[in-house]
Formats: sequence, C-alpha cells, structure tokens
Amino acid sequence: MNDMKEIIDEIKARCDIASIIGEYIKIQPSGQNYKALCPFHVEKTPSFHISTSKQVYKCFGCGEGGDVINFIMKMENLDFMDAVRMLATRCGIDINLNIDEDTKKRLELSKRYQDIHTEAARFYLSNLMSTKNKGYEYLRNRGLDDKTIKRFGLGYSLDSWNSLMEYLINNRGYTEKDLIECGLIGKSTKTGKYYDKFRNRVMFPIFDYRGNVIGFGGRVLDDSLPKYLNSPDTQIFNKRYNLYGLNFARKNLTTRTVILVEGYMDLISLYQYGIQIAVATLGTALTSQQANLIKRYADNVIISYDSDEAGVKATIRAIDILVEAGLSVKVLDLKDAKDPDEYVRKYKTEGYKDAIKEAVPRIKFKIDKLKLSFDLNKDENKIKFAKSAVDIIKQIKSPVEIDYYIKYLSKIVQLDEDAVKREIYGKSYYTKKSLKKDNKFNNFNTKEEKLNIEKVEVAKNGEETTEITLIKMMMKFPFLREKILLKIDESDLLLKDSINIIKVLEKLDPEEVLDFQKLDNIDESYLNTLKEISLELIDINNFHEIEETIRTVKRNALKNKIENLRKHQSELEQNRKKMDDSNKEAIKELDIEIMNIALKTVDLNKRLRSL
Ligand code: GTP
Ligand code: MN
Repeated sequence: MNDMKEIIDEIKARCDIASIIGEYIKIQPSGQNYKALCPFHVEKTPSFHISTSKQVYKCFGCGEGGDVINFIMKMENLDFMDAVRMLATRCGIDINLNIDEDTKKRLELSKRYQDIHTEAARFYLSNLMSTKNKGYEYLRNRGLDDKTIKRFGLGYSLDSWNSLMEYLINNRGYTEKDLIECGLIGKSTKTGKYYDKFRNRVMFPIFDYRGNVIGFGGRVLDDSLPKYLNSPDTQIFNKRYNLYGLNFARKNLTTRTVILVEGYMDLISLYQYGIQIAVATLGTALTSQQANLIKRYADNVIISYDSDEAGVKATIRAIDILVEAGLSVKVLDLKDAKDPDEYVRKYKTEGYKDAIKEAVPRIKFKIDKLKLSFDLNKDENKIKFAKSAVDIIKQIKSPVEIDYYIKYLSKIVQLDEDAVKREIYGKSYYTKKSLKKDNKFNNFNTKEEKLNIEKVEVAKNGEETTEITLIKMMMKFPFLREKILLKIDESDLLLKDSINIIKVLEKLDPEEVLDFQKLDNIDESYLNTLKEISLELIDINNFHEIEETIRTVKRNALKNKIENLRKHQSELEQNRKKMDDSNKEAIKELDIEIMNIALKTVDLNKRLRSL
C-alpha cells in the first residue's frame, strides 16, 4: 500500500479506536460507547469519551480529542508519520510510500541492522540474567534492581572472543559483513580472524527516540581504561543526532522540562529513583542537532553534568548550544556529589527534586563559575572579572534580566551599577544618558538601550527648529543668505528637505527671495514648520547671533553623525560572535572617525566661547 490517504483510511478501518485506547487506559462501556478517566489530565470522574460509531475520542474536561492517530501521537509523543507507522504495524498494514529502489534497499538494510541489534541486546540480556556472572554482580553492586536492569535491557558480553558472533551467524543467519557494518565485530590485522568487539563488559543498549536498539555502550567491570566502548556511527546510529533515554523521557515531558545528564549510569540511576525526564549525551559534547531534538519535546533544560572541572566546561558549552536552539536553561548544583548518580543515591528522590527546584539560571551559573577563577581581594582582579562577567551579561536579551544581573554583578565586585552599565553599553551609554537629560529622545527603553540607540532619529524638536530657522532666514533675506552660505554646506544639515532647499538657494540670484510656492518635493510637515517659524525675534542685523545659530546647526549635525557612527560601531560589537579581523578593524576605524568628529565639535565650541 503506498497511497497516504489510503493508508490512513485503512488504519482507521482496521484499528478500532476503543481497543487501541483500551491498551493504554482502563475504559468502561457506556451504551454503545466508552468512557474513561482522561489520560491527558488529572481527574476523578471520567470525562473522556470514545465514540465507536465515529471512531473518535473527546475529553470534555480538558478538550483533548481526535481520531486514533491523534491519540497515538499524543499518548506516545510521536509525530504524525511515526504514529501512522506504529498503527500500520499494529494492524498489519504493509506501508510502502512511493519510494525508489535505492531508498528501499537502504531501508531494508536498516531494518536488518535494527534486527541484529535487537538480537544482540537479547543475547547480552540473557547472558546477564540466566547464569551467575560478573556483569550482574557489578550492576547490582551499583545499586540497580532487576526491574531497572530489564527496563533498560542491560546485559553482559561474555569474556569470550566470539560468542556473540557465533550466535548471530550460526543461530540467526547473519553474515560477518552485517556484523562488521553494525560495529559489533572487528577483524584482526594479524590473524585475519573476526572477533567480538564487546567482551567482558556490562552492556547498555542505546535506543533511538522510538525505542529501537541502534547501538551499544559497554563498560568495563573494573577501573581499567578505556572505561566505555561505544558503537561507532553506523547506518542506523549517529551519535550527533541521538540522545540516550529520550525514548523513555519523551512520554513524561508534560511540563516540557528535561534534565540533561552525561552518562548511562546517571540516567538509569535517576530513572530508578523515579526521575524519568532525563536524557544523556553519553559523554560527548552536546551537538546542535541534539539540542534541536530536545526542542521538539521541551522548552526548558536543566543541565545536570558531573561536578568536576570537565563537567563544568561541558556545561558551559552545552548552555550556549541549548540557548541557540531556543531553550531556556538552568544548571543543577550537585553540591558534594561527583555526578547525578552519586547524588540521587545519597540524597534520594526528594533531594534531587529539591536540587531541581533550586537549579541556577544559566547566567548566574556562568558568572559564579567565572568568579571562582579570580581572587577578588585584589582590585585589579575585580575589574578583570567584571569585564568578563559583562561579556556574559551581554548575551541576555531580556532588559529585566539584564538589569537584575547588573545589580548582581555590582554587588559582587562592589562597583557602582553605572560603571557596570558603561561596560555593557559601551561609550554609547554616555550618549544615551546625555540624551535622556536633554529629554529629546524620551521614548527609549532599556531594551533599546541595549540594542543601542536602535534608530538614531534624525533631528527632532529643537534641533529641527534651529535648522529650519536658518533655512527660512536664507529664503527671506538674500543679504544674509550670501553670508550664511559661506559658512555652511549640505554636510552640516540633518534634514533632507533642508538639503534640497539649500541646493535651490545656491542657484538664486543675489537679490532673489525664495517663495514657499517655488518649493516642490518638500515634506508637508517640514513645509508647515517652515511657514510657522517666526523670525520676528531675531535681530537680523546682529550677525553674531546668526553665527551662533549656524554653529548650533553644525554642532547638531556633528552630534548626529557621532550617534550614527556609535550605533554602527556598537552593532559591530554586538556581532562579537562573528567578530573577525576586518570587523575589529572597522570598529577601530569608527573610533578614529568619531574622535575626529568630536575634535571638530570641541573646535566649534572653543570658537563659540571665544566670541
Ligand atoms: P560510571 O563511571 O560507571 O558511573 O559511568 P557514567 O555513565 O557515570 O560515566 P561518566 O560520567 O564517567 O561518563 C559519561 C559518559 O561518557 C559515559 O556514560 C559514556 O557514554 C561516556 N564515556 C565515559 N568514558 C568513556 C570512554 O572511555 N570511552 C568512551 N567512548 N566513552 C566514554
Ligand atoms: Mn558515574
């Protein structure tokens, strides 16, 4: 069967919704239909109804409802296609969705490798459970009970060179090539003989999120190294894309919070203590693919890595990757325990749950860890630490959070909050402050402050008026125009309409007055201001006064330029992640440019004072 719609219809026809749901929860007949306690919310009286005629379910308590596929998606936390596949298998529908020969071969091979892994896992498990062996002893000594061992399908690889190989080839009909491809056996370069890769180890089957065995981890029974041997990447196993334990956890992630641990033993131990929302990276650095996989099931991650230095480093790396994937991250403090396994065995379920409640927000974690690497009794270290901590705070987007951490950091280093802010916002913080004082740009909020004068609005109010006044003088009084035009040009003006007008003014005859009617393409609001401005109070014969206006106009333009450059500069600084040499160079150049303009301003002010 290869038509999707046909498949869905067939599934609905063959999978009776009541019997499927009945496999998961207790249902009671109610006339032709059934009712039950809703599995999707907590209730004491049944409001979950199944209609046999319509083949749908509906909970009148929480509103959840749909057909048999929806139920499986929700119950098993599967996506649509996986739910369809699962149901098709259950009711014996052979699905074959228009796939080409190559894909089909690959899928067949994957299925074969899958089966091999399942067989191998069974073999290891039976080694562990059937006779007395060191593997079982080891696991029991580590505190695991039989139920947990079976739940995770833990096993034992015999202390033999070829027991698994013989079993899979002689009893199950697989080939050496298959087993090589699965990473279960190797070939000796010396003798040319094949041998089992996993020997005398406790075996941890690695599942994919659906619960299929796709690889193994094997732990030595003593302190010898390497401690673990893990399956290599194969056609069915890619470490970067997989998370150990997700097959169990995904069914329990009702609060969309997941705990991230490093090791098999951490995850299994937590599980045994009833904390069943963990997934493990298996010791390798968390990948962005794994973070995205988490994002499918959760919004919050609590990292619970080992407490040693390596664990802290791995935590800091994981934080960034998780945040990148849009997850909110906290870090669990293990206190005196070396890993979650030790912690939960020492402090039990309640202790671990308390630790979850007290998990530290990621920024606090980073700042606290950073703090440890400085001796803050020395002032110079305080400053060094504060500068690095500011880099961490800069990663925050929420203005409220930024504020919180500014306070937090100021307290640690006993520095003025303003000083910390200056570190964060750079030089533009001064600009920002002075603007606030001027009260011209009164609609900035902290967020924009951080994004840095998001959009430096071109001259407003006072600045605008001064400029337009000067323009009006030039339009009305040809004798002044001549003098003013000697002192300013387009680059001294902020408004594009002023620039347009000045171009016209430059071409006028010496005695000609420029009338409003002759202006075209000028913004209406500009034109209105131009008309409204009164020149009555200006003494047109006092050129000193007019010169002052010119200087103000020039200064405003310079100020505006500086703001724009700073904005650009801080944008470059914000992109620190992508910071390369050319970027750094550009920032430096902007510094120089800003400096030059600032000098011009100083010059202007000096001249103003000397007048
Ligand atoms: P125990 O030492 O038995 O408590 O195991 P653990 O699961 O706590 O391991 P640990 O925290 O030391 O390491 C975390 C994970 O990293 C393990 O679960 C393995 O997946 C992986 N790992 C650790 N050591 C090795 C190793 O020597 N080789 C490989 N390939 N992986 C390792
Ligand atoms: Mn451990």
